[in-house]
Amino acid sequence: MSSVIYEKDHNNIVHLIFDKPNAAANLMDQEFTDAFVAAVEKLQIDDWAGVLLRSTKSTFFAGGNLDDLYATTHENAQVLYNMLSSLKGAMRTLETAGKPVVACINGAALGGGWELALSCHYRVALSQGVTLGLPEVTLGLLPGGGGVVKMSRLLGLQAALPFLTEGRQFKPEEGQTLGLINEIVETPQQLIDAAVTWIKANPKTQQPYDVKGYKVPGGTPSHPSLAKMLPIAPAMMREKTKGTLPAPESILCVMVESLQVDLDSALRIETRYFVELVCSQVAKNLIGTFWYQLNEIKAGVSRPQGFASAKVTKVGILGAGMMGAGIAYSSACKGIEVVLKDVSLEHAHRGKAYSQSLLDKKVQKQQLSSEQRDVTLGRILATENTSDLAGCDLIIEAVFEDRDLKARVTKEAESQLAPGAIFATNTSTLPITGLAQAAERPANFIGLHFFSPVDKMPLVEIITGKETSSETLAKAYDYVLQIGKTPIVVNDSRGFFTSRVFATFALEGIAMLGEGIPAAAIENAAFLSGFPVGPLAVTDEVSITLMEKIRNQTIKDMQTVGELYVLHPSDPVVDRMLEANRCGKLAKAGFYEYPANKKKHLWSGLKEIFGGVAAFELQDLKDRLLYIMAIETARCMEENVLTSVRDANIGSVMGIGMPVWTGGVLQFINQIGLPAFVTRAAELAHQYGERYVVPSILQDMAKEGRTFKD
Ligand code: NAI
Repeated sequence: MSSVIYEKDHNNIVHLIFDKPNAAANLMDQEFTDAFVAAVEKLQIDDWAGVLLRSTKSTFFAGGNLDDLYATTHENAQVLYNMLSSLKGAMRTLETAGKPVVACINGAALGGGWELALSCHYRVALSQGVTLGLPEVTLGLLPGGGGVVKMSRLLGLQAALPFLTEGRQFKPEEGQTLGLINEIVETPQQLIDAAVTWIKANPKTQQPYDVKGYKVPGGTPSHPSLAKMLPIAPAMMREKTKGTLPAPESILCVMVESLQVDLDSALRIETRYFVELVCSQVAKNLIGTFWYQLNEIKAGVSRPQGFASAKVTKVGILGAGMMGAGIAYSSACKGIEVVLKDVSLEHAHRGKAYSQSLLDKKVQKQQLSSEQRDVTLGRILATENTSDLAGCDLIIEAVFEDRDLKARVTKEAESQLAPGAIFATNTSTLPITGLAQAAERPANFIGLHFFSPVDKMPLVEIITGKETSSETLAKAYDYVLQIGKTPIVVNDSRGFFTSRVFATFALEGIAMLGEGIPAAAIENAAFLSGFPVGPLAVTDEVSITLMEKIRNQTIKDMQTVGELYVLHPSDPVVDRMLEANRCGKLAKAGFYEYPANKKKHLWSGLKEIFGGVAAFELQDLKDRLLYIMAIETARCMEENVLTSVRDANIGSVMGIGMPVWTGGVLQFINQIGLPAFVTRAAELAHQYGERYVVPSILQDMAKEGRTFKD
C-alpha cells in the first residue's frame, strides 16, 4: 500500500493515483514524499506519453500534515527542509520532462493540493464541489510546495497578492478566468477523458515560465511600474498587520526575491522562508488555536454526549431590533423558518427589511440570484402576534436589556413552545440563572449571546444557567453549528466570559486617559498590539452611557449579595465624559468626533479635561491591554466560568478582538511562559494597581511548570 499508485493505461499514459492508505484525505507528509519521489524516479526510466494526477478520495489533495508541522522546531527543522527539497525536486522533474502532465481535480485542492496541480501543464476540474487556493497564511504559514513561486510567475506579483498574502480561495470558474484552470467538466469520467484528449494533442509541453523569453505579467521587480509600487507594498501590509503577523511579510519577501532569480533558486528561497515560519511562535499559536482547537469545537467536544443531533426547523425571535434582525437573517440563510416578532407589525417589518438589504447587496454582487433572495426572505414571517410562535423548536429573546421585560416576554412565549423546545436569551449582561426564574421550565432555558453585527461575527457564546439541562445545551450547540457559527460554552456569571473580559480592555484604555496619557497613544498601542479597534473607539461604539449603566447595575447586584464595589480608575473618566455630554458614537460625540461625511477623529476636548501630556512607555501600554484581558480570563478559569482553554482562545479572538497572532488569550500566557507572565503582572500591579494581581491559579501553574492545555 502506497500513497501514490502507479498505473499505466492502454494509451501509454501513467496515472499517478493519490490514495493515502487508511486516511480520509491525501496529505503531503514524508510517506507521500517518498512515494511521489519513487514514482517520478520510475517515470524517468519508463516509457510514457503523458502523466495524469488523480485522487481516489472525495477531495483531490489536502495540504501539508499539520501534526508534523506543529511538531517541527529549529532543532529538527532540517528533516522538513530535506523532505520539501526532495518533493519539490520531484515536482520539478515532472514538469520539465517535456511531456504532458495533467491534474484531474475532483474535489478540494487547497494548499499542497493546489501546489501539486500547479506542477501540471494542464488542469481540469469538476464544476461542482471544487475549491482551490493556498490558505496557508491563515495558519501563519506560507505555501512551501512551490505555490508562492509559481503563482507569482503565472499571475504576476500584484495579481497573485490576495491569493498568497490573504489566502483567498477560488472556484474553478474564477480559476478559468485567471488562466489557472484550463477546462471544467461535469463528471469524474470526463475529467479523465479530457486529460487523455489533451495529452494526445500535446505530446510535447513546457510550463509557460520555462519557455524561453517568458514574461511575468506585470513584469519582474526591476520593471519600472512594479519597482514604483514595491517600496509601498510593505508599508501597505504593515498597515494591515501592524507587524504582528510574520507570514504575509515572508510571503511578500518570497514573491519579490523569487521573481529575480531562476526557478530552482526561487524554490529554495521559498523553502527556507517556509521552514523558518513553521518554527515561529506565531505559527504554533495559529495552528494550535485555529486548527486543533477550532476543529474540536466544530466536532462538538463541549457538546454533552448522548443526545441525538437536533435540527431547528422553525425559530421564533422576540425583538426585531439590531440583534433580532441579525439573528433572523443568519437563521433564514441556513434554511430555517423564522418568526420575527416585535411590539408592532411596523417594528417587525423594519427588522425583516434588514435581511432584505443584506440579500439585495448579495444579488447586486452576483453572489445570489433574485429567486434565491426571495426564497430566503420568504422564510421570515414578520409579526406582532405571539400565537405565530406556535410550533417553534427554539425561541430567542432579543428585546431591550431589561429584566422585567425579559421576564414578561419569556412567560408569554413559553406558552407557545412545544414540550421539547428550548428558550434562549440573547442578553449581554444579565445572569442567566436569574432570568430563568421567569421560565416555567428553567431546564429548557439557556443563554445564546450573539455578537454585533450578527451577520459578520462568527461567534456565539452559549451560557448555561444553574438549571439548564444537558439536553438543552446539546440542542443550543447544534443550532449554533447549524447556522454556521462557532459556539463556545461558558457557565453563568456577571458578564459571562466575553463581556467581562472585553470590559477590562475598554476600561483599561479609559483609565489610561485618566492618567493623562495621550488618547492617540492609547489607541495606537492597541493597534500596534494587533487589536482591530482601540479601547476608546470601541467604547464609543457600545456607548459611554452603557458603561455607566453596567457599572450601576454591577454596584446594585453586588450590594444585594453584600459585596463591596471597588472603584475602577476608569469610573471618574466615564463620569467626566457624561458630564461633558459625550455619550458615544450614536450621539456623534464621545472620545471621538463624528463629523458628517468625514472620518472620525479624537475629540480635542480630551486634552483640556485629562491633560494628555503624561510620559509613557509604549511597551507598558501594550502590555497593559493584553495582560489585563489575560488575567481576567484566568480568573474566569479559576471561577469555573470557563471550563476549556479552547473556548477561551477561540472566544477571545472571534468575539472580542484579542489579536490573532496571540492564538487567543490563554495561549498569550502560554507563549510568554507562566513564570514570566506572573513576574511581569506583578510589575504592572505594583505600578498600576491591584487589578493586575494574578489569581492563584496562575501562581500555582507557574510554580508547577504547567501551561494552559485542554
Ligand atoms: P434594540 O433596541 O435594537 O432592539 C430591541 C427590540 O426589542 C426593539 O425592536 C423593540 O421594539 C423590541 N421589543 C421591546 N419589547 C418587546 C416585546 N415585548 N416583544 C417583542 N419585541 C419587543 O436592541 P438590541 O441591540 O438588538 O439588543 C437586544 C438584546 O440583545 C439586549 O438584551 C442586548 O443586551 C443584547 N445584545 C446586544 C448586543 C449589541 O451589540 N447591541 C450584543 C449582544 C447582545
